[in-house]
Amino acid sequence: MSARPGDPRPRPLPSNRYGRFSEDGREYVVTDPRPPRPWANVIANPRSGLVVSHTGSGFSWIDNSQLATITRWQQDLVSDRSGKFLYVRDADSGDVWSLSPSPTWVPLDRYACRHGLGYTVFETARDRIAAAWTLFADAEETAEVWVVSFTNESGRPRRLELTATLEWCMGVSPSARREFARLFLETWPDEPRRAVFARSRMWDVPSARYGHWNTSFPFVSAFASSAPVSDMQGDKGELLGRYGDWPAPAALQQPRWTRGFGRHEDAVAALRVPVALPAGGSARVDFVLATGASEEEAAGLLECLGTPAARDASLERVTSGWRERLAAHRVETPDATLDALVNDWVRYQAISARLWGRCGYYQQSGAFGFRDQLQDSQVWLTIDPERCRAQARLHAAHQFADGSAYHWWHPLTEQGHVTKMTDDRLWLPFVVASYLRETGDLSVLDDAAPFLDSRQEAPDPSLSEHVLRAFRISCSKTSPRGIPLIGAGDWNDGLSAMGLEGRGESFWLGHFLAGLLAEWSEIWGRVGRVDLAREFRQRRDALAGAVNAHGWDGAWYLRGTLDDGTPLGSSRDRVGRIFLNAQTWAILSDTAPPDRAAACLAAVREHLVTEAGALLLAPAFDRPVPEIGYITRYAPGLRENGGVYTHAAVWAIAAAAKARDGELVGRLLDAINPATKDPERYWAEPYVLPGNVDGPDSPHQGRGGWTWYTGSAAWLQRIVCEWVLGVRPEWEGLRLDPCLPPSWSGARMTRPWRGATYEIAIERGGIAGVEVDGKRIEENLLRTAEKGTRVRVVVRVA
Ligand code: GLC
Repeated sequence: MSARPGDPRPRPLPSNRYGRFSEDGREYVVTDPRPPRPWANVIANPRSGLVVSHTGSGFSWIDNSQLATITRWQQDLVSDRSGKFLYVRDADSGDVWSLSPSPTWVPLDRYACRHGLGYTVFETARDRIAAAWTLFADAEETAEVWVVSFTNESGRPRRLELTATLEWCMGVSPSARREFARLFLETWPDEPRRAVFARSRMWDVPSARYGHWNTSFPFVSAFASSAPVSDMQGDKGELLGRYGDWPAPAALQQPRWTRGFGRHEDAVAALRVPVALPAGGSARVDFVLATGASEEEAAGLLECLGTPAARDASLERVTSGWRERLAAHRVETPDATLDALVNDWVRYQAISARLWGRCGYYQQSGAFGFRDQLQDSQVWLTIDPERCRAQARLHAAHQFADGSAYHWWHPLTEQGHVTKMTDDRLWLPFVVASYLRETGDLSVLDDAAPFLDSRQEAPDPSLSEHVLRAFRISCSKTSPRGIPLIGAGDWNDGLSAMGLEGRGESFWLGHFLAGLLAEWSEIWGRVGRVDLAREFRQRRDALAGAVNAHGWDGAWYLRGTLDDGTPLGSSRDRVGRIFLNAQTWAILSDTAPPDRAAACLAAVREHLVTEAGALLLAPAFDRPVPEIGYITRYAPGLRENGGVYTHAAVWAIAAAAKARDGELVGRLLDAINPATKDPERYWAEPYVLPGNVDGPDSPHQGRGGWTWYTGSAAWLQRIVCEWVLGVRPEWEGLRLDPCLPPSWSGARMTRPWRGATYEIAIERGGIAGVEVDGKRIEENLLRTAEKGTRVRVVVRVA
């Protein structure tokens, strides 16, 4: 993975005692195997993938990382010793170690774990045997590849035995009913293919066709070696030995294995490969874990990846795929770590972990959250907007005819969760509007998708109909004084009980809905639906009026009211006194008049900004309040309960930029940057965003957690580009409105827009204004350029 033309100029990136970024920022190299928590990589293609931590632990899935887990994994972020492993045994000395720290934790003479975009490599050495173990998922096929290479640095011939192991899950994870699941699993050896196959005749999910507990897991997997195997095993008892364990499987020391395959064993796969290394010699052994709808399909995938050249080409497609996917839109700021995050890591995080894998190491989900993946799909807007559009269609097809929507649903089984959440449906108009501003392509409104409960209706309703129904139901569910009802929660899932009786209100939702009504008033006008345009404008004004009449607490906006009318997020409260989203979205949605916008930003600064970012609320709840919801049940300072909830904390950066507070923008950007944290305090990965960082009411303030699976990833990239660098698609053109941190001397961006490429340089000093291809223009707005052209833009700021 050497540098290529067009790669960013290498600038020093920070390291800490556990690891460092590679020079180009595209790899994170863990160099000490004991960071405070597992530092993972979520490696996925659109259908399948794997999670692997720096210890080598992790698991693999197909189509649904929770319901269709291929290999078993026990979530334990302290021991982190559960997964798919490679053992080496020196056949002469009997010494055994693993090619990653877990599961043996036998001391290694050299260790590095390189997490990259689409792959992870473990580089180890013990007793002068150097090894590199690369893991990746093919760019498209439902196959995972391991490439293992050995170098004998010992100056004498060596005889090794390499054993690759995994434990089959073939279904829902975690299978709490492990003994029950075991009754349906089957493994069988395939000698010519040097493979162990597995399937399960029970899939523990409701099936529309056969009912619960009466359907097979719809996939077959095969785990194969590229080199001749001396032994194969399908039974865990034989592999580990009675009361044995993964750190020291008994079979590794046995010259011959008693095989256990079939339907009556405890399903694993183990393949033992003899490796002879002359002095100074090297060897390569690969493994493929392939999954298909049938044995033939899985075998076919093994065939496709059957040569070293095919597997090398597969890896090359993965790495070049990521490079090309992210190439068209890039930024350069004075902060090299921010660039590494925005250009590569958070977009990789949003695509690989959020949209494709739908999984992290702290959370195995597999489901599509109606609001979640719509927001994540923003990551495609500038680089591949059709994927964002496809996501909108997919979610539209999970909306009911009355305009409400599933809170989440599981692909494969289509199990969906019906709730009284009140914001989910509105993220559809939100994302479609973003798509429209980016592309100007009004035909998206005619895209068709069925409603969940009227799939027979022909033709399928248009996306504009879906959007309209989302608005209709949201506008109909308001309190007598015109504030949206909160129901079982809005964006904040944990406010789960405020409105169960149908009276509790959400002022945040009021701000959000008002902003959307304004946006769609504009869109309806543009497609000639003047009646709707007028109606939406009136509704927006009435809603903004109501929110301002009833939602202002004196120095900031209230969050909402409970069913009994008690306000939430008021200066009179001991805990939960101020909530972030009600302030930031008042600014972002233009519902706050200027004086209130200034006041609520000041309140955010005073009460919520910490050195790790803006808290979601303060002070934290310290005892359960059943009338509010489960947010009050979290330990104080954790997650939504008074932690820095990163998804919302990045919105604060946008709000600060919109309010033109460059100093706060700089502070908040630094605060959420994981790359510069002290790992002893922060714990989490330095290269991706966490879901949350403990707030001041936790004894571990500043500790990050719930990494990878967070909506903040796609948002951070969009906010840095649109609000900090200020390059923002608007109805009339591409707005240039930077709000740089005071310490920044400038910034650059390469960005595609409607067929042209814009090279934008933001420079401080000189007379403020914009030059396009050397000529000054009147406004700071770019009109569409001819397709295929490259436009040079200089934005001078004070
Ligand atoms: C979780 C949910 C997301 C919600 C957020 C705040 O991340 O997946 O939908 O908005 O929590 O409660």
